[in-house]
Amino acid sequence: MSSLKGVRITWLGHATVLVQTARGTNILIDPFIAQNPKYPKDYALPAKIHYILLTHGHGDHIADAVPAAEKHGSTVVAIYELAAYVESKGVGSTVGMNLGGTVQLEDVAVTMVDAKHSAAAQDEHGAHYVGVAAGFVLAISDGPVLYHAGDTAVFGDMKLIGDLYHPEVAMLPIGGHFTMGPKEAALATRLLGSKIILPLHYGTFPPLKGTPEELAAQVEAGVQVMRLEPGEIM
Ligand code: NI
Ligand code: MN
Repeated sequence: MSSLKGVRITWLGHATVLVQTARGTNILIDPFIAQNPKYPKDYALPAKIHYILLTHGHGDHIADAVPAAEKHGSTVVAIYELAAYVESKGVGSTVGMNLGGTVQLEDVAVTMVDAKHSAAAQDEHGAHYVGVAAGFVLAISDGPVLYHAGDTAVFGDMKLIGDLYHPEVAMLPIGGHFTMGPKEAALATRLLGSKIILPLHYGTFPPLKGTPEELAAQVEAGVQVMRLEPGEIM
C-alpha cells in the first residue's frame, strides 16, 4: 500500500502484529504465538526483532514475550511494572515506560497512550499487578503514524490521540466481549480520524464475534477497513 511508504504491517492473528520499517527496524507487538489458534502455522518471523511491545499483561498478549525476546534478540518495551515482570521471567533487555511518554526506538518514536481495560498477569503463583493497559502510537521517520490500541473499550480521549498524533493506520480490537466491538470501533475510527483500519482481536475464540464486515458497514465513506488473513502483509 503506497501510503505506508515502505512500511510493512503483518497481522499474525489476534492482536499480534509485526511492523517492519523501510530502514529495517522490526517491531513485534503483543506476541501470542504457540497457543494462538489463528497464528499462521508455517509463518517464520524475521531472525532479528529489535523490539517487542506489550500493551498489557494478559496471556493472549504476552504469552510468547519471553521466548520470542530470547530467540530474536529483542528488547521488550512495556509499562514500567510489566517490563519489570518480564525481566523477572528472564528477559535480559527491557524499556519500562508509562502513559503519555515517548521513547525513540531507532527510526520509530513510540508513545504509550491510554486504554480502558484490566491488566494483571497470571502465572502459577496467581495474578500479579503489572500496571494498567495501554496502547501504542508508532511515528515512523519518513513513514506513517500507526496506532495499536491494545485491548480497550472506546473512550472519548481517543480524540486526543487523533489530535496529537494523526494516526493514518489504526489497529483496533473489534471482537467484543473483552474489548469493544464493531459499533464502538466505528466511533473510535471517527474520534481518531484514521483512514485505514486493521481490525484485531476477533475470531480467535468463539466469544469474539465482531467482524470486519460489520465495522466496514458502520464507518464513514473514505475509510478503508482491511480484511487480512493471518500472515498477510498490508
Ligand atoms: Ni486483555
Ligand atoms: Mn486480549
